[in-house]
Amino acid sequence: MNILVLGSGGREHTLVWKLSQSPLADKIYAVPGNPGMAELAVCVPDVDIEDNDAVVRLAQQKAIDLAVVGPEVPLTNGVVDALLAAGIKAFGPSKLAAELEGSKAFSKNLMKRYHIPTARYEIFNDASRARVYVRQMGAPIVVKADGLAAGKGVVVAKTVNEAIAAIDEIMQDKAFGAAGSRVVIEEFMSGEEASLLAFTDGETIVPMVSSQDHKCIYDGDQGPNTGGMGTYAPAPVLTPALRARVQTEILEPVIAAMKKEGRTYKGCLYAGLMITDKGPKVVEFNARFGDPETQVVLPLLQGDLVKIMLACIDGTLAAMPIGWDDGAAVCVVMASGGYPKAYKKGMEINGLADAAAAGALVFHAGTAQQNGKIVTNGGRVLGVTAKAGSIREAVNKAYAGVDKIHFQDEYHRHDIAHRALERLEKE
Ligand code: AMP
Ligand code: GLY
Repeated sequence: MNILVLGSGGREHTLVWKLSQSPLADKIYAVPGNPGMAELAVCVPDVDIEDNDAVVRLAQQKAIDLAVVGPEVPLTNGVVDALLAAGIKAFGPSKLAAELEGSKAFSKNLMKRYHIPTARYEIFNDASRARVYVRQMGAPIVVKADGLAAGKGVVVAKTVNEAIAAIDEIMQDKAFGAAGSRVVIEEFMSGEEASLLAFTDGETIVPMVSSQDHKCIYDGDQGPNTGGMGTYAPAPVLTPALRARVQTEILEPVIAAMKKEGRTYKGCLYAGLMITDKGPKVVEFNARFGDPETQVVLPLLQGDLVKIMLACIDGTLAAMPIGWDDGAAVCVVMASGGYPKAYKKGMEINGLADAAAAGALVFHAGTAQQNGKIVTNGGRVLGVTAKAGSIREAVNKAYAGVDKIHFQDEYHRHDIAHRALERLEKE
């Protein structure tokens, strides 16, 4: 089969890596791809993945049998609908289904209607009403832009003033453009977070191994939020008993709700969870694989990702055996100094082969090829990943890989998986 993967980050490199292991995979194309993916796929840098017609034309030209969509924007643009209409199998939710991520107001209202546990909230189209509400409720409180804001439209405000500043930034200064013409204001939930990705064909939903992202830039979960500085899987906070609750209280109800609403959801559903003292609650749904969660989840997947994706598309997931390794995986993100604020690009990266020889899987996120060299080309540059029998071994192996790789102004966290390790120490 010819396979097309849309996207250019570490998540997509991981998808290409796993798909390429399938005996069903012949040629893989990555649009636009990156130098890491170029070892396994043909990169097509000059097609805009946010232009549905261009994607469909490319898929027709290359006789694509399966298209896999990485990022959220093409999904909310309806690229899956466009591909399916052209007779091309595509993994991911339709435009209507992707609204589960594309509009936080839609997603919160759906959860309320179907009694899916999540933080209490109100939705505002009007900044002055939102300010009054925040003053009434007090802090801490969470302010979220309704639409897609590349993970940046959420402010967890510790004070009322901070919340009001966030409302002004989102609704008046339009820091996230049209995404901020509505805000969702939410009750603050305390607890530990976990991510649970799941395969679904619209009827059956099969969770993957759980994982945990480290969103803050500095060690000890300090400093501003990033796209994710590292992950590990599985996340022991999600015990088997809690996983069972997530399945019956969250995953199954949301898939049934989407079907009932005429928005049958197929693809990968990402549940961002808060494990509160009252049980698991939804922080957010994403309509795609997580980044960098994918980097630790897919290496633990036994079996054929192509077959699983086809089963999701064809509605035959219930009959598909899906197994997971018993071990653990850890991904440490190596970033450009300065990220998530301004940073330089074009720094030569050395030691990639040494890291691979030390047993690490190096997934490229923000890299480019320049005069035959691999250079930095983004904030998050690499996801250095390792799989091992235990979380501790996986941590050691991932950091052994990190130690081999060098570029100017390189920055990474030193405490990825600290919560899992602390739990182990307590046991
Ligand atoms: P989101 O984009 O909705 O996942 O929000 C980004 C991050 O903000 C989450 O990963 C949480 O750490 C935090 N967050 C969002 N909503 C809440 C909430 N209601 N209570 C506490 N933290 C939250
Ligand atoms: N790692 C967070 C996300 O993919 O949204």
